[in-house]
Amino acid sequence: MTRIAVVPGSFDPVTLGHLDVIERAANLFDELHVLVVHNPDKSALLPIGQRVELLETAIAEAGLSRNVRVASWSVGLLVDYCTDVGATVLVKGIRSQVDVAYETPMAIVNRNLAHVETVFLLPDPAHAHVSSSLVRQVAALGGDVSPYVPRAVAEYLQPTTSRDLLSAND
Ligand code: PNS
Repeated sequence: MTRIAVVPGSFDPVTLGHLDVIERAANLFDELHVLVVHNPDKSALLPIGQRVELLETAIAEAGLSRNVRVASWSVGLLVDYCTDVGATVLVKGIRSQVDVAYETPMAIVNRNLAHVETVFLLPDPAHAHVSSSLVRQVAALGGDVSPYVPRAVAEYLQPTTSRDLLSAND
C-alpha cells in the first residue's frame, strides 16, 4: 500500500525550516504532497502561483523531487484534498509549544472530519527561530534573508542584491 502524506501550509515564502520538515517527511512516506493553502487569517506577500514555483525550485535543488510534488488548494477543506489524492496523513513541523497550541485543534478537527491523522515532526533546532513572517519582515525592511530561505527565495525577494552581485562579477 502506497503511503501518501500532505505537508500543508501558507509557504509565504518557503523557509529552510519548511524544507527540513519536507525532507524528513519525504524519507518517511512513499509520496509527499507539499500543498500551498490560502490562509485567510494571514495577509499574503506572494501570490499562490509564485509560492508553488519557489517550492518546486527549492525541492528540486534539494534533490527531493523523487517522491515530492507541489500543489495548491483553495476550494474547500484541506481534508478534501487528502481524500481526493488518497492521503491519510498530514505532516506539520513543530518549533515550540506555541506551534503545539496552534496545531493541536486543527489536528483533532481534521481527524474528526475525515480520519486524517497528523504527524508532528521536529525540525533541526538550527531552524527553530525561522518563520515566514519573520522572513517577510526582514525582506520588507531590506535585510538579508539568505540564511533563512532556499536560494531561489532569497533571489526572488532580493533581486537587486543578486543583480548587484552578478554585475560585480562582470
Ligand atoms: O502555514 P500556515 O498558515 O500555518 O498553514 C495553515 C493551514 C493552511 C495549514 C491551515 O490554515 C489549514 O489547514 N487551512 C485549510 C482549511 C481547513 O481545512 N480548515 C479546517 C480544518 S483545520
